[in-house]
Amino acid sequence: MSKKNQTLGEFIIENQSSFKYTSGELSRLINSIRLAAKVVNHEVNKAGLVDIIGAVGETNVQGEDQQKLDVYANNKFIQTMTKRNIVCGIASEEEDDFISINSQDENHQNKYVVLIDPLDGSSNIDVNVSVGTIFSVFRRVTPVGTPVKIEDFLQKGNQQVAAGYVVYGTSTMLVYTTGDGVNGFTLNPAIGTFYLSHPDMQFPENGQIYSVNEGNYIHFPQGIKNYIKYCQQEEGDRPYTSRYIGSLVSDFHRNMIKGGIYLYPKSSTNSEGKLRLLYECNPMAFLAEQANGKASDGFTRILDIQPTELHQRVPFICGSKNMVEKAEEFMRNA
Ligand code: AHG
Ligand code: MN
Ligand code: MN
Repeated sequence: MSKKNQTLGEFIIENQSSFKYTSGELSRLINSIRLAAKVVNHEVNKAGLVDIIGAVGETNVQGEDQQKLDVYANNKFIQTMTKRNIVCGIASEEEDDFISINSQDENHQNKYVVLIDPLDGSSNIDVNVSVGTIFSVFRRVTPVGTPVKIEDFLQKGNQQVAAGYVVYGTSTMLVYTTGDGVNGFTLNPAIGTFYLSHPDMQFPENGQIYSVNEGNYIHFPQGIKNYIKYCQQEEGDRPYTSRYIGSLVSDFHRNMIKGGIYLYPKSSTNSEGKLRLLYECNPMAFLAEQANGKASDGFTRILDIQPTELHQRVPFICGSKNMVEKAEEFMRNA
């Protein structure tokens, strides 16, 4: 059984046999994400030095071109996963189309596709606020031996085999699930090792935090407006506290630990919502359910939505189970 202070490397080996498919490929995939996360973490931590090492578009002292951090993160995750003969395709927020990856024997033998938001909350970088990486993993549905197709990526979230995020915060953490609970690992930056710090993470069933961009309030559907008013009413354990970082990963992470609800509804200006189903909402919904929480678009379970396009947006309500159910009730009754 998993023990606190175990390294992520040890944890992956120890738990490999509990994966549904035990060929070891998924373990190697998580390992490659672990590696890319460390490299990106190093770069994110230097973001404040931009005046010293050169701004985006300039050439730094080593003669390297400075890239925007989301482009940098995108390239690092893609490079790391491409080289390891595990992944047959990647879809990213930073790429218009999916990327097809051939195996080294050029026979399309790799089985997994990854969908990724390489840097989430990137507008927070310049102000020293936490950002993250979100990833989602599926087995391909088209036959091994052929190039990947769009249908390998347009799978319902309930088919995910793994999902997780990295939060580059006051500490850097990697939090992931392979369908057997959620575990969180904290990076010791001095030696570059992730340690199991948060075994078996669970959303409290009830919480007292609501996270929503209230600047959009007047554009929200009536059900959301009513729910926000409910959060603010004085009764029982209410009013709730409002906390909104504007970095989905960070808002989710805090709510999972403390108990809370995150809402990004559709609005009269954003008819589908803002967040992306495939590489933001699906992985977070899988994590939420694995941690005894819930994720919905207001009416439907996120993981049951059939995607129709790569960069599809969806309204997103996620967090402590009873809070999400209450918000759904307000949506139904509006
Ligand atoms: P990204 O940086 O990957 O584009 O994602 C930003 C997302 C999400 O992290 C955050 O919760 C949300 O956008 C914030 O949006 P608003 O600024 O509209 O509140
Ligand atoms: Mn994002
Ligand atoms: Mn992003």
